[in-house]
Amino acid sequence: MAESPCKWRAACRCDSILRDSLDGRCAPFTVRKPDLEMPTTSIHGTPDYAELDALGLDPSEVIYFSSNINPYGPPASVVEAVQDEISRSFLARYPDSRSQRLREKIGAYHGLPPDAVLVGNGTADLIWLLAHAYGFQRHAAILSPTFSEYADGVIMAGGHPIRLPLPGWHRIRRRSYAPGGTTLAQTRQALETSSPWLVFICNPNNPSGEYLSPGEMRYLWEGAPNALWVIDEAYAEFTEDPWSAAQWVMGGRNGNLDRARGPGCVVLRSMTKDFALGGLRLGYLLAAPSIVERLQQMQPPWSVNGVAQLAGLVALDEMDWREETTTRLRRDLRDLQDGLRACGYAPLPTTVSYFLLPVGDAKSIRDRLVVERLFVRDCTSFGLPEHIRIAVRPPDENARLLEAMAQIDHLPTRQPDSRVNNNH
Ligand SMILES: Cc1ncc(COP(=O)(O)O)c(C=O)c1O
Repeated sequence: MAESPCKWRAACRCDSILRDSLDGRCAPFTVRKPDLEMPTTSIHGTPDYAELDALGLDPSEVIYFSSNINPYGPPASVVEAVQDEISRSFLARYPDSRSQRLREKIGAYHGLPPDAVLVGNGTADLIWLLAHAYGFQRHAAILSPTFSEYADGVIMAGGHPIRLPLPGWHRIRRRSYAPGGTTLAQTRQALETSSPWLVFICNPNNPSGEYLSPGEMRYLWEGAPNALWVIDEAYAEFTEDPWSAAQWVMGGRNGNLDRARGPGCVVLRSMTKDFALGGLRLGYLLAAPSIVERLQQMQPPWSVNGVAQLAGLVALDEMDWREETTTRLRRDLRDLQDGLRACGYAPLPTTVSYFLLPVGDAKSIRDRLVVERLFVRDCTSFGLPEHIRIAVRPPDENARLLEAMAQIDHLPTRQPDSRVNNNH
């Protein structure tokens, strides 16, 4: 193995790295520049149990504005079904390794055959699976700022993440972003230039909550028509007018996506968000059966436990509950944002149940609120050190947050309100 500059340095931005024996790309498992190619220490909005222990807090004593889940869930029918079913024999029995009944029900809901569905131990599990199946030594475009697991999964699979600015965002430093600047046309151009194998796009986006329409998605797609597009719709059902790229996964011309030219598209959905099943872990993906088969071969057996499968089956009968609670959340969100504006803050617009709030120094505001047992998401790890992300909760809890935020004398820097400039 000779030492020489990586041929792909424009894309992965390394300086000098050992060449592997294949084709002159970096060898991520042989030599990895620690500050460049290691995944981030997983930082999420979910409870950090070690931090809670250190603070002497029980998870039930804390209010999580930091976790984007439906605070009205899970549906009562799911809790009852789990309580009724749990028995010694149920717990002792291995679950169906293929989650077949659940796949059939999910497939029917999306108008797809069961073999176009793969169920996972949460969507995060499926993101890593996809990265390992398709990302080794390949470039994956990740429209950023966004959920960190796409880049982490790609890096751990020995691939190369290329962070491209999402429309409505621009890069201010290597991994820091600010609202405004990039148009849809510029993002498409960046996709064309980077020519990735994989594209990860979160729609609606976490943490910023903007939502590309089918037309905008198709327009972007043309920038990398031969890539495998992974469209993460974990939060779609929180929007007022959800749509799904599920219609595109089987190829054909229905979605006007020319599948003949490329490997196509995978849709990710999470049931831990809208049905609030975070403790059970449940997510699924929709893809052409050939893709599902390949992923299934790589998935560890019994990934999805029996309780999660049962909960998923019952939750899928609760679409009215989901509609009713997400409608309520949109009202709660309007009230919370109005309350924050009244205190001098400038929440950014969103289509979902969480939003970004410019606060100047996100870490200090988060630490300040922790004392009140109110957890918000410091967005530094997203490349947004001046923003916190707040997921709306029921009105009495939002009132507590407002009260605490009103006490904070450190008033935020104002940010432009209109981020998304989708001029083609
Ligand atoms: C965009 C996005 N996708 C996927 C996930 C993971 O979801 P799950 O709990 O189903 O693993 C998250 C969790 O925060 C997320 O924000």
